[in-house]
Amino acid sequence: MSERIYVGADHAGFQLKQKLVGELKRLGYEPVDAGPQTMDPADDYPDYGRPVAQAVSKGTVKRGVLTCGTGLGMAFVANRFPRVRAAVAWTPEIAELARKHNDANVLVLPSRFVSEEEGMDILHKWLDTAFEGGRHERRVAKIDA
Ligand code: RB5
Repeated sequence: MSERIYVGADHAGFQLKQKLVGELKRLGYEPVDAGPQTMDPADDYPDYGRPVAQAVSKGTVKRGVLTCGTGLGMAFVANRFPRVRAAVAWTPEIAELARKHNDANVLVLPSRFVSEEEGMDILHKWLDTAFEGGRHERRVAKIDA
């Protein structure tokens, strides 16, 4: 069975979110689009970040992807939920380290600071990199302790 991955955005990330959903499908994942379904310049990132973070927090899915203009608002929202480790990544290297060292289970893309092509490269790196464990296991465990 293919892995379900929740995806959400606000108006600033809407266009990139559409690409992310398409790319996840192309790669054989099952994206769950938490919205928005249409472009609304007045929408608010917490309304779309929350359902994605909730799904990861509850264990409904293992991973989620969020995007807004800077990535910051979405990360603030997502990281309020227990067991969620949302990482803003603007290069593939940051995405890689966020997986290896922090076991980031939510990827947050700053749509106004990455091109669509860069966004896809960051997504690929985050999807394909495993948590290193070892000394990082103890540190990650302390986040929710
Ligand atoms: C929306 O204009 C913008 O503030 C939002 O996408 C995000 O960058 C907030 O952190």
